[in-house]
Amino acid sequence: MSRFANSVTNLRSSEIRDLMSLATAPNIISFAGGMPGNELFPLETIDQIYQSLTEKEKQIALQYGPTTGLPSLLESLSGYLEKKGLPVKTNRLIITTGAVQAIHILAKAFIDPKDPIVVETPSFIGALSAFRAYEANLISIPLKEDGMDTLQLKKKLDSTLPAPKFLYYTPNFHNPAGIIYSPKVKQEIVEILRDREIPIIEDDVYSDLYFYEEDLSKMRLIKAEDPEGIDVCYIGSFSKILGPGLRLGWMLAPEEIYQKCELIKQTIDACSPSISQVIADKFIRRGDVYNYTASVRQEYKKRGLAMIEALETSLPPYVTFKKPRGGFYTWLQLPEGCDATAILKRSIEKGVVFVTGKTFDPDAIKNNSMRVSFCNTDVETIQKGVPLIAEAIQEVCG
Ligand SMILES: Cc1ncc(COP(=O)(O)O)c(C=O)c1O
Repeated sequence: MSRFANSVTNLRSSEIRDLMSLATAPNIISFAGGMPGNELFPLETIDQIYQSLTEKEKQIALQYGPTTGLPSLLESLSGYLEKKGLPVKTNRLIITTGAVQAIHILAKAFIDPKDPIVVETPSFIGALSAFRAYEANLISIPLKEDGMDTLQLKKKLDSTLPAPKFLYYTPNFHNPAGIIYSPKVKQEIVEILRDREIPIIEDDVYSDLYFYEEDLSKMRLIKAEDPEGIDVCYIGSFSKILGPGLRLGWMLAPEEIYQKCELIKQTIDACSPSISQVIADKFIRRGDVYNYTASVRQEYKKRGLAMIEALETSLPPYVTFKKPRGGFYTWLQLPEGCDATAILKRSIEKGVVFVTGKTFDPDAIKNNSMRVSFCNTDVETIQKGVPLIAEAIQEVCG
């Protein structure tokens, strides 16, 4: 018998993952994934970029690189982030192997077993898994329509000792809740955290995928304010604006945190893939990132609007949802006692999958909600699949 570490003994495949593995029918419609549509990747652009590389650039692409990232990408990405109003000159940028690695590095930097940290309910499962792997005590704060319930946040912080090590949140087009944080809630979070020595991890991988330009002003990031007395670590990714296969993300952090993160990253993978970094660098420098995001934004908006229309037409009136204004997800709220896992079983029989609410609950209990993605299915498939989910809901919840 192998004797595993305490930190991994509780890691097991979830009931949902096991259910999903039953969903193997060739024509199954999946509203489960959080990945871009394969057909949307900028294949020609990537071909052109690779063809245009000099011999020296191709050598760099196949070589190890600096732990914090290739200098050329750090420079071009800084320009890209500066356009979002981020304080790149007074902070340090580090390239990571996906945003998920940035989350893991920060978890390793801050969490000792049983340390409290603050997360949202619901929250991104990848972050919850990382925090669980470091044996954090998850203090969960419910999400409202415009962000975290700040009354609850203050109450929990006033009553939690020792103080939580950090607060993790997703400001724009939340995964799974789909919401945008209002400026008011972000301001309240800042006021509550000020001078408590609780850093903020701001996970912002969807903000380029907005449907409406008018939302941009309210999407302003806490990191853009870089408030006095709070360390803010801003995380982003190329996964949704180029391709998750590159495994490239980044973190913009204050000097002291950056230094620790560099040391931690050295012990994990020494550097992120150089070939991905060379390609991402050119993708920014040639201006492709702006043209590409403009075009996928249109496509995701079409899909999101088709999802809203299909849901409004076919859902029973007791299911509510907030209309997405960007990103990849819609979050359906079912009546108390209505079990999303039972609905998923029925849906799979009908040839459709989604993700149950419990997956995103830090306490892994609350299951009267479901995440339905519109990113990876075309409009026609959305129109075909959503009524089947509605049927499954009616069969289970009446
Ligand atoms: C909120 C959030 N953060 C991070 C990630 C992961 O990004 P990456 O592919 O860069 O690791 C995702 C992917 O679904 C996400 O939804």
